[in-house]
Amino acid sequence: MLSIEDLKVHFEIGKRGRDRKVLKAVDGVTLTLKKGEAYGLVGESGSGKSTIGKAALHLVPITGGRLVIDHEDLTRIDQRSEKKLRRKAQMVFQDPHSALNPRMTILRSVSEPLVLHTPLRGAALQARVAELLETVGLSSQFLYRYPHELSGGQKQRVCIARAIALNPDLLVLDEPTSALDVSVQSQILEFLKALQAELGLTYLFISHNLAVVRYLCRRVAVMYLGVIVEEGETEAVFNNPRHPYTQALLKAVPYPQAVQPDKGPPLGGDIPSPVDLPPGCRFQTRCPARVEGLCDKVAPPEIQDAGGLVRCHLFAEAGRASG
Ligand SMILES: Nc1ncnc2c1ncn2[C@@H]1O[C@H](COP(=O)(O)OP(=O)(O)O)[C@@H](O)[C@H]1O
Ligand SMILES: [Mg+2]
Repeated sequence: MLSIEDLKVHFEIGKRGRDRKVLKAVDGVTLTLKKGEAYGLVGESGSGKSTIGKAALHLVPITGGRLVIDHEDLTRIDQRSEKKLRRKAQMVFQDPHSALNPRMTILRSVSEPLVLHTPLRGAALQARVAELLETVGLSSQFLYRYPHELSGGQKQRVCIARAIALNPDLLVLDEPTSALDVSVQSQILEFLKALQAELGLTYLFISHNLAVVRYLCRRVAVMYLGVIVEEGETEAVFNNPRHPYTQALLKAVPYPQAVQPDKGPPLGGDIPSPVDLPPGCRFQTRCPARVEGLCDKVAPPEIQDAGGLVRCHLFAEAGRASG
C-alpha cells in the first residue's frame, strides 16, 4: 500500500550564508505497509515521526528517496498526481481543536474535500456528510454545530470523518489521541480499531505512547533521530526488545508488563539535535551498552533477520560470531 524507500527529509534552517544549517529530520528511512494493516511508528519527540507522515502526503518537501503509494510512484508530484494522492491518503493530526475552522459548521468542514474533489453538491452532499458523521458515531444533529459546541473527542471524530470523506486507502494518524482527555482516549482508539476493520483502511499510526501502539498495531518501527533503530511484529518487539533504545523506551512506560527488570539503567539525557548528529551510532551518547571506539566511530549496520530489523553493533557482532 505504502512504500517509503530511503526517505530523506532535510530542512535548511537559519539565515542565508554562513549560519545556514541542515536539519536532518528524516535520514534514510525505509518502510513498507501492507494493505489493511496498522503500522506503528514510535519514538521520542523530535525523532522525525511526524515528518515521515507529512512526507507521505507531500506536506513537506522530500529531499531524497522514493515514495510509492498503491504501486504509483509519487515521489515527485504535479497537480494531477497531487489530486490522486489526496484521494488515496489522508492525515489526522494531534490537535482537533486547531484542525477545524471555528467559523465553519461541521457540515462545511466535512464538505470541503468533497466539494474540491467530487461533483457532489446540495442535498446529495449533505447526505454524504451525514453518512460520514454516522460512520464516526455522530448523529446528523451535529451538521449545523460549530466546533466550540463539541467536546475534544467529538472534534477528533469530525476530523476523522473529513479524512475518510474521499474513501482513502491510507490514513496517517499522528498522535490522534494525545491532545484528548485520558477518559476519551480509549474510546477513540477503540473507534479507530473498529473503523479500520470496517473500511479496510491501512494505518500509519504515529505515537510516543507504546501502549497505544501495542493495542492497535501489528507491526512497529522505533525511530531515533531520523532513522529506524528497530522494527518487527509489535508483540515480538514488546516481549523481546533488542535495541538498547527500545529497551529504554519500554522501561519508561508506566505499565508493569512492559518493565524489563535486568536490562540496564533507563534512558537519561536529552535527544541530541538533528542539526548536529553524533558520529557513529546516533544513540551512542545515551546508550548504556556503548562500546568505546566502535559505537562512537562507526555507524551500525542494519541487521535484518527473522525477528525483524535492528540497527546496532551488538547484533552485528552476534551475527558475525555465529555466521
Ligand atoms: N518545517 C520544519 N522546519 C525545520 N525543522 C523541522 C520542521 N519540521 C520538523 N522539524 C524538525 O525535525 C525534527 C523532527 O521533527 P518531527 O518530525 O516533528 O518529530 P516527532 O514527530 O518525532 O516529534 C525536529 O528536530 C523538528 O524540530
Ligand atoms: Mg510529532
